[in-house]
Amino acid sequence: MSDNDPNDAAAAVDEARLWQRHEDMAQHGLTPRGGVNRQAFSEEDRAARRTMIAWAQALDCTLATDEIGNLYIRRAGRDKKAAPVVTGSHLDSQPTGGKYDGAYGVLAGMEALAAMRDAGIETKRPIEVVAWSNEEGSRFEPGGMGSAVFARDMRLADLLPARDPDGTALGDALARTLEATAEVPHRDSGFLIAAYVEAHIEQGPRLEAAGLPIGVVTGIQGQHNYEITVTGTEAHAGTTPQRDRRDALQSAVAIIAALGDLMHDETDTLRFTVGRMDVQPGSHNTVPGHVAFTIDLRHPDGAELDRRGDAIEGVCQAHVGPCDVVVHRLNAVAPTRFDPKVIETVQHWADALDFSNMLIASGAGHDAMFVAKLCPAGMIFVPCEKGISHNEAEAATPADLAAGARVLTACLVDLANRV
Ligand code: HGY
Ligand code: MN
Ligand code: MN
Repeated sequence: MSDNDPNDAAAAVDEARLWQRHEDMAQHGLTPRGGVNRQAFSEEDRAARRTMIAWAQALDCTLATDEIGNLYIRRAGRDKKAAPVVTGSHLDSQPTGGKYDGAYGVLAGMEALAAMRDAGIETKRPIEVVAWSNEEGSRFEPGGMGSAVFARDMRLADLLPARDPDGTALGDALARTLEATAEVPHRDSGFLIAAYVEAHIEQGPRLEAAGLPIGVVTGIQGQHNYEITVTGTEAHAGTTPQRDRRDALQSAVAIIAALGDLMHDETDTLRFTVGRMDVQPGSHNTVPGHVAFTIDLRHPDGAELDRRGDAIEGVCQAHVGPCDVVVHRLNAVAPTRFDPKVIETVQHWADALDFSNMLIASGAGHDAMFVAKLCPAGMIFVPCEKGISHNEAEAATPADLAAGARVLTACLVDLANRV
């Protein structure tokens, strides 16, 4: 039995095993261009969960799932009653996603459990790896549902009516997913967590540009998500004079142009994205009567984010022309500041394991922004090629993935024996 030295556990991380798990996981939703399309509560997501269950059983771990399908893999600690130290991320992807966004955090956690077993490590607290449901929100909006329901930041009942572009209700897709893992015992979400550390690719260019393998994440910028609905009147494209039209698409275009002016930022810090637009009836010779589009708005300063977000309604009403417009804010997540002690732990083990590193704030959202509302939390970043993500070309190296997994493993053993 080892003396439970985090260095021993980190040394037992197996780079090839971790890389192979990524290749195996990528088979679930692999696209012809080498990315993944594994959207929340899809067949591909269910297959990924089954793979996780098999890997967990091979590691003699126990399993649980909750009302929104978060999947928990637990390694026992000496003190069965102690609140666990938790790591994890998400297995669902964007429609044209990469192999590492989310999957890395779950698989690095699995690698940590395997390394602890190989090193004969015993911890006081149990350690759990979580695959949070629907972090991306690309199929059922908004994102972060699994961790937000866990943190009581969203209510499952409010989310169930959400429908995907094909009209499938979240409630039905979730029920199918829970059926597919029916043998996994149920445990209510929201249980006490001692500390949380999530590993993730940076999804930006800074670590690669600095030539550093590890980012010690200080926090996550705030984000608001909106759905804007513009209603006009369907009409014949050939017979209807322009002056008589209530063209929902022309109004939406005018609104989006005006929002672009509203969101101009000399410092290029604000992030404003219209990522989805649905035009109905979508016929080339019918004037559109209904347009829905999304806004994803982000900024590291909560007050500035609120100021810009609060101005959206006025701009929409001022530019909607002869149509009607409704602004629906789906969520508002304030900027996250991670726990100084967890940041210090990540930095300590990156230094101790001789991985050069830098403090870095996250531009991307993560499950950690909800979990951080419940317990001391932090994140570990590793570089991805050219910072490309939410793109099938997303790439990372086996060495960088293993470096992040070594730092994660040491942090988990340390936190599970110390806090
Ligand atoms: O949108 C995000 O920032 C995350 O990658 N889902
Ligand atoms: Mn992610
Ligand atoms: Mn993502």
